Amino acid sequence: TAPKTYNIVLLPGDGVGPEVTAAAKAVLGVIADFYGHRFEFSEHLIGGAGIDATGDPLPPETTAACLAADGVLLGAVGGPKWDGQKRRPEEGLLGIRKAMGLFANLRPLQVSPVLAHRSPLKKEIVEGVDLIVFRELTGGVYFGEKTRTDSMASDLCIYSVEEIERVTRAAFKTALQRRGKVTSVDKANVMETSRLWREVVTRIHAEEFPQVQLEHALVDSMAMHLIRKPREYDVILTENMFGDILSDEISVLGGSIGLLPSASLGEAGPGLFEPIHGSAPDIAGQDLANPVGTILSAAMMLRHSLELEDEATSIEAAVAAVLAAGATTADLGGELGTRAAAEAIIDAIKAIH
Ligand code: NAI
Ligand code: MG
Repeated sequence: TAPKTYNIVLLPGDGVGPEVTAAAKAVLGVIADFYGHRFEFSEHLIGGAGIDATGDPLPPETTAACLAADGVLLGAVGGPKWDGQKRRPEEGLLGIRKAMGLFANLRPLQVSPVLAHRSPLKKEIVEGVDLIVFRELTGGVYFGEKTRTDSMASDLCIYSVEEIERVTRAAFKTALQRRGKVTSVDKANVMETSRLWREVVTRIHAEEFPQVQLEHALVDSMAMHLIRKPREYDVILTENMFGDILSDEISVLGGSIGLLPSASLGEAGPGLFEPIHGSAPDIAGQDLANPVGTILSAAMMLRHSLELEDEATSIEAAVAAVLAAGATTADLGGELGTRAAAEAIIDAIKAIH
């Protein structure tokens, strides 16, 4: 039978973005060969690159291409070059998240033995951590009405039942494919939105996912538990601002910022996948950036948007093997450049097959 064709949009963006997306594209090419798929790539402008070429950080044709894609892989946007200009690169990122209707931001973290000793925490605490954060992305205090007078300011925190339900379902579904545990984080002792959050999560659990183990945690004590016993968590589900803060806390538990992937998902349609790091202007254009965060983001794209689970797992296994062997970029103490690090992962994929 003819190979299935998947339409993948690449948004390289700024700084190290083009280098890390090129690395991930090379890995995806090898996966397509091994599994008999056709990945059709198209590159589009976003961020500073969009401003430089068209004056617009999110040209309309970029949005159209993303909406028509099977999956979208982004590098990074921004940098000092665009400071003080009237259009900002970040507008591109916020705009595309909105246009694609992305409401759940996923950030997985796994701390292997090799990475555990690079953590600022004790090895015994972080070794073996394997968790994923589901952060609601469209509601809460960041998007509520804002007021300002000379003597006061306010930010309104709003959540609808529907907004809570959709991210909750996504988190429970993922828990079924993992260790089957969800920790829902709120501030239900103080906030009405959190009391609604807890009610909705409890109901969805009882009605649709009773086989998953559910626990509720208050965000302040959760911040502490994540440092004391991070291995206890599997899926962490939370609202927008709490998730913003906790996911940065979690990102330092193991390894380097260059390693960590993320996914942003909507109801249907393609997701947007990107490393958590920024454009790293200090190392851009020098073949120094760690491509692993973007390569693992590409694996998440295969899993969540293209529904190619075996293909995703094989990228993740190759990355784990390469890191365990110490074949890394300088941020992890290794000697490889961006391209050589991607080649090492490609070799590991070939070795697995
Ligand atoms: P950053 O993540 O770009 O860099 C922080 C530090 O980590 C730097 O020392 C950098 O060299 C290092 N680093 C980052 N990625 C790396 C990689 N793949 N391999 C090795 N080392 C890596 O954060 P920073 O410096 O705060 O921001 C730089 C620019 O990126 C700013 O314009 C910021 O607005 C933008 N940014 C964009 C994001 C996005 O596109 N989603 C997210 C965060 C920042
Ligand atoms: Mg943040």
